[in-house]
Amino acid sequence: MTASPPRAAAFAGDEVGRHALLKSDLASHAAAPVEASFLPGPVLLLGAPGVGKGTQAHFLVTRYGIPQISTGDLLRANIASGTELGLKAKAIMSSGLLVDDSIVNQMVLHRLHEPDTQRGYILDGYPRTLDQAIFLDGLLADLALPPRLPVVAISIVVAYDQLLQRITGRRICPICKSIYNVHFSPPAKEGVCDQDGSALTQRPDDTERVFIERMKTFEEQTAPVVAHYHALGRFEEVDGNQPVEAVATATEAALLQLRQRAPQEAGA
Ligand code: AP5
Repeated sequence: MTASPPRAAAFAGDEVGRHALLKSDLASHAAAPVEASFLPGPVLLLGAPGVGKGTQAHFLVTRYGIPQISTGDLLRANIASGTELGLKAKAIMSSGLLVDDSIVNQMVLHRLHEPDTQRGYILDGYPRTLDQAIFLDGLLADLALPPRLPVVAISIVVAYDQLLQRITGRRICPICKSIYNVHFSPPAKEGVCDQDGSALTQRPDDTERVFIERMKTFEEQTAPVVAHYHALGRFEEVDGNQPVEAVATATEAALLQLRQRAPQEAGA
């Protein structure tokens, strides 16, 4: 899902507008000088629904100029475009289950061959099953493309009750994709986008009922992925129960630490 329209839609819309409300929080980080010699390489952002993977991915994108590859965004772009894949994914996503490994693996495989991944990339919400992790490890070991750096994983952890509020309180502008939260960052006028006056929408899977299913799916299928990267030693955990800026600082520190630990190990 790379040069295709779905990917363009996911990046053009979601990247720019998605975290507009967080811009002031992140401004100091974004303005900070980036060491040109630092090669981020492949970075996995792992964590339960609503921990802030997308929010933190946006920060790393801004800071290091590498792309965010969100399988959730790619799938939603397919749903919005009415592709065959999107039609299949829609029912699965609204029930809190996972889309087939083969579908998301192929999306990621395709996307990683784009030239903007050469200095690194943030995989947001992938891998989500052990089979996806094994596929990714094999892919990176075989991939003849730069960066030849081992994948590193950062897991963000947030308390359950906070996650429920983050998920059920999230509202999105369908036009500019700005993201709000009725509990933490509400718009000036209820239900209306501050940027363009559009009526805000809620993701179909952002209800309490589906959140409970998504959490079950996370515990059963994604927790083993976290354990997998933990066991490989290329893993750091970040406390996500903090303001966005503090989580961004901790996430960047984790990335720098991970790269210092295993700077040039080629392949997986
Ligand atoms: P996906 O879109 O990946 O959803 P998710 O993992 O459940 O994550 P979210 O996007 O809900 O949350 P996030 O962690 O990015 O948090 P965010 O930064 O937005 O996947 C959706 C579905 O697609 C899956 O259920 C599955 O069906 C399918 N799918 C996707 N990938 C797949 C794969 N690999 N395999 C199979 N199926 C796949 O923040 C959330 C809210 O919290 C926002 O309102 C934000 O403003 C707020 N917030 C963020 N940080 C903070 C903070 N520090 N303090 C206060 N509020 C904060």
